[in-house]
Amino acid sequence: MEKLKGRNLLSIKDLNADELKKLLELATELKSGKKNIKCNKVLGLLFSKASTRTRVSFTVAMYQLGGQVIDLNPNVTQVSRGELLIDTARVLGRYLDILAIRTFAQKDLETFAKYAKIPVINALTDREHPCQILADLLTVKEYFGNLDGVTLSYFGDGNNVANSLLLGCAMVGINVKIATPANYMPNKEIVEEANTIANGKSKVIVTNNPQIAVKDTQVLYTDVWASMGQEQETNNRIPIFKPYQVNEKLLESAADDAIVLHCLPAHRDEEITDAVIEGDRSRVWEQAENRMHAQKALLVSLLGSD
Ligand code: CP
Ligand code: NVA
Repeated sequence: MEKLKGRNLLSIKDLNADELKKLLELATELKSGKKNIKCNKVLGLLFSKASTRTRVSFTVAMYQLGGQVIDLNPNVTQVSRGELLIDTARVLGRYLDILAIRTFAQKDLETFAKYAKIPVINALTDREHPCQILADLLTVKEYFGNLDGVTLSYFGDGNNVANSLLLGCAMVGINVKIATPANYMPNKEIVEEANTIANGKSKVIVTNNPQIAVKDTQVLYTDVWASMGQEQETNNRIPIFKPYQVNEKLLESAADDAIVLHCLPAHRDEEITDAVIEGDRSRVWEQAENRMHAQKALLVSLLGSD
């Protein structure tokens, strides 16, 4: 995908709908082994929050492409001793070919991208998690054979994952419904953007009523009730979020062919019950695997092949 070479992925909407669909096609080809692309470049991972899937899937994807990875844990760099982001960015940009950053503020990610002058990937911020959504869409496409016209409902906190899902689903014609408690709704600006992108062709519904969201839905999606950095709020949030739990009763009200997704890590019997995550509708392990295939396609597209 020559058009993506040299670009950033700071938000899922840094791709247009056509580019997003082509990226998913490339991910499918790479996953099937039909395409074998080499890319002997160096990826840096600068993560200020914990990560299992994102860290390992990016690392393995880059190794399989013939490239190298440097894990730049902030504790072992001068970042932890207060070196300015703009200085770190300018220096890393001169060593690395591409950088994936996991941090808190979207603004810090944008600053980094501006100064690093190499492709920068959002590996999760408080606002968005675009790499996750690439894998989610790939999983939905694999199961239903298409994206256009599928209905996906998200239950829980209007967080980074909900924000990126809103945008990503609207881009590919998925009807998206987000059910959250009143004070935990997704970012207003992002809801407006999703509505603009959908342009009346697919539905964008934001509600506080999980029953509205579950009706006719084919994909039930949830995420933790307290994200990284909000752990101290967990106990207060549990009673507020309980009506949004993805459990067997909720699943019974969905479409007959409904599947269940969760970006993981999961808190069993909080946002999802053990029975549902282990049940026959769960596709969470396929979804986790798809992180690697989707990000391999992303790396190749942003870097170009050898
Ligand atoms: N889903 C996800 O991003 O997982 P990690 O936090 O383990 O990377
Ligand atoms: N919303 C979660 C996603 C973790 C992958 C968080 O930000 O912690």
